[in-house]
Amino acid sequence: MSAGLFITFEGIEGSGKTTQIVQLAEHLKAAGRAVTVTREPGGTKVGAAIRAILLDPDFSEMDYHTEVLLYAADRAQHVAQVIRPALARGDIVISDRYIDSSIAYQHYGRGLPLDLIIDVNEHAVQGLKPSLTILIDVPTAVGLKRATEVETDRIEQESADFHNRVAAGFAQLAADDPERWRVVDGTQPIDAVHRDVLAVVSGLL
Ligand code: TYD
Repeated sequence: MSAGLFITFEGIEGSGKTTQIVQLAEHLKAAGRAVTVTREPGGTKVGAAIRAILLDPDFSEMDYHTEVLLYAADRAQHVAQVIRPALARGDIVISDRYIDSSIAYQHYGRGLPLDLIIDVNEHAVQGLKPSLTILIDVPTAVGLKRATEVETDRIEQESADFHNRVAAGFAQLAADDPERWRVVDGTQPIDAVHRDVLAVVSGLL
């Protein structure tokens, strides 16, 4: 059993989850809690190299199996090097994306079998599950507009249909497991989203 608390944030591109993670971490640190903030892909040095391959628009030929395995490889390193040690120290670990992103993007988005995603990731994480997953929910049109204002990466360049399938996937995952998931309305002003996130997290502290 881990001593710390593992919280993940999920959502489509431009949902604002990264902003919310920063604000939540600041709040928890101010309250005297030890917090580790991390992300996927790219939460480690090895992961940063994997992330560069995954998001490079030059690799448009990437096979979907290659993609799912690279996300899982990033995750294996992330769990071993960052998440488990932080939980063992007793930290609250907040990760920007985790396995649910692979289910939403590679199963619901790409159409790879769910079993495959679960199996591959089981090897990567060896049973490590978040205690709480917060879905920052925004309509695809809103998220994509925010996310694609500057440069777009290989995944962001996918069709609106793809991103709609991903969003529907996240909604389905949240509906299927209400014990672990909480859905927060990400279309509200940043402070209001933060208040909702705090209300959810304080239930666990
Ligand atoms: P990133 O720039 O970190 O996006 P965001 O700020 O929206 O999290 O890029 C991560 C991209 O990788 C994003 O498009 C989602 C995608 N992704 C997957 O397809 N599968 C996964 O398992 C993970 C972790 C991310």
